[in-house]
Amino acid sequence: MKQRKPGSSEKKPKGKSLRSQLWFDNPDNPGMTALYLERYLNWGLTREELTSGKPIIGIAQTGSDLSPCNRHHLELASRVREGIRAAGGIAFEFPVHPIQETGKRPGAALDRNLAYLGLVEILYGYPLDGVVLMTGCDKTTPACIMAAATVNIPAIVLSGGPMLNGWDGERRIGSGMVVWQAREDHAAGKISYQQFIDLVANSAPSIGHCNTMGTASTMNALAEALGMSLPGCAAIPAPYRERGQIAYDTGVRAVEIVHEDLKPSDILTRKAFENTIIANSAIGGSTNAPIHINAIAKHIGVKLDITDWEKVGLDIPLLVNMQPAGFYLAEEYYRAGGLPAVMNELLKAKKIHADAITVNGKTMGENVKRAKIVNEDVIRPYKKPMKERAGFKVLHGNLFDSAVMKLSVISDEFRDRYLSNPKDPMAFEGRAVVFEGPEDYHHRIDDPKLKIDENTMLFIRGTGPIGYPGAAEVVNMQPPDYLIKKGILSLPCIGDGRQSGTSASPSILNASPEAAAGGGLAILKTGDRVRIDLNKGTADILISKAEFAERKATLEKQGGFKYPPSQTPWQEIQRGMVDQLGEGMVLKPAVKYQRVAQK
Ligand code: FES
Ligand code: MG
Repeated sequence: MKQRKPGSSEKKPKGKSLRSQLWFDNPDNPGMTALYLERYLNWGLTREELTSGKPIIGIAQTGSDLSPCNRHHLELASRVREGIRAAGGIAFEFPVHPIQETGKRPGAALDRNLAYLGLVEILYGYPLDGVVLMTGCDKTTPACIMAAATVNIPAIVLSGGPMLNGWDGERRIGSGMVVWQAREDHAAGKISYQQFIDLVANSAPSIGHCNTMGTASTMNALAEALGMSLPGCAAIPAPYRERGQIAYDTGVRAVEIVHEDLKPSDILTRKAFENTIIANSAIGGSTNAPIHINAIAKHIGVKLDITDWEKVGLDIPLLVNMQPAGFYLAEEYYRAGGLPAVMNELLKAKKIHADAITVNGKTMGENVKRAKIVNEDVIRPYKKPMKERAGFKVLHGNLFDSAVMKLSVISDEFRDRYLSNPKDPMAFEGRAVVFEGPEDYHHRIDDPKLKIDENTMLFIRGTGPIGYPGAAEVVNMQPPDYLIKKGILSLPCIGDGRQSGTSASPSILNASPEAAAGGGLAILKTGDRVRIDLNKGTADILISKAEFAERKATLEKQGGFKYPPSQTPWQEIQRGMVDQLGEGMVLKPAVKYQRVAQK
């Protein structure tokens, strides 16, 4: 890598080596150049604008009427354009395949890799020198960064920002999260259907993405922790004036990084990924983060695997007091200092790599060293955290090779019931009840024949990237209504799917390989005893090796684990080439394509 002084803005001689000149100023190929120019002039651009060395900056527009979480990017893009223009660039805005977490059947995660593929083709195939990635709702952020990583042209993330806080009278209600709470209240007969709907609607009072530390706030914070956005960008609520201002600054910076040739591969280093894992523990980030961050690492070619999440992140304390792991919501988190204040705590505690370069040309250390915590109840100082050891525990055993558990959301109720045996403090055993996907769970959970009690572990399978295309967010299963009414609000849940980043359930999830890819979950039977040991990091069905082998052989004889047929062409295509959740759920053939703009 070329040595670059942090913060320097050494410029390339203008008009010399912009990638877009291959399209618009290429005398070696006059026929194609004329054709390229002709159509891009027809909407009013001048030839001077396209050939005088002004960088052409794509604006990867993820907002649309189908994507409410990102819809305000349609307006925000005008501030980005003004920044690009002021810095001497030309803006080309284009649509990215929509990914709306709460709108897409059978699940938005199915489309992360589709949006990725589409964006790779756009960034590679069109005359773009750099790109602003307009991120927001959960999977829009990883999809965009994964594509920028593959193509490796200068790229900068502009988050859309969270919604304002949701309120039910004086009570804060967080988007996404309120659904889990309201479901319990509804199941227990405390609220009506209409109250349920109203409560959930009140959690979303403005434009923006989820106002909890769900997957959206997590992934945008982590984009900033990776160094891919301007410092302070992620936490600014969508309607605030600062959002428009940082959109302008992002546009300006997009032009500068083209002149500086500062590419994703300069920023997305192993150090940046380690900083990101550490940041995720401190913010109480989503269990979807390892999937998406590992995918970005795979596409940029940095070695990172699921065990790094425990090695690097487990011992980091929870600093951010925000739902689902805490109390507050997005506006308080922003006012308390947002990610820069969190990163500075981690910097002072010598937990992060200060010298990781970021997209503003400065190091992470330089960016955050003056950031202050404004409210120590919302962002805790490192020495007075919300919780110690708040990272992810990575488990393995005969059930799966890897699965994660988010320790920061283990409730006192859960800890008292399952993790307080003085002889065996971090382990528990139980009787398995197995569900074949979310529909089966919904049909049978209240069936008394299943004999579910507080010593039951709920299992769900057929919900991984192959079994349920894109992997369903279903592992956080509620106990049957009769147990909830008795005050048992959670049971251990284990599965090969995901769970929402807004869930406060300490499920064991993202099990890889999934049942449909030959994982041990496939041979589990209702009634089996299962042991989870959080000390050793193991999860095993308590059967002999011989019994395990015999069940596997029987399953194979029956043609393997069954899952429903694909409903669309993309479901079938992705199922044929997708990797497991522990591996980032990437498309296996895509990983070998790296730095494609340089080839
Ligand atoms: Fe889009 Fe939560 S549903 S961010
Ligand atoms: Mg989600």
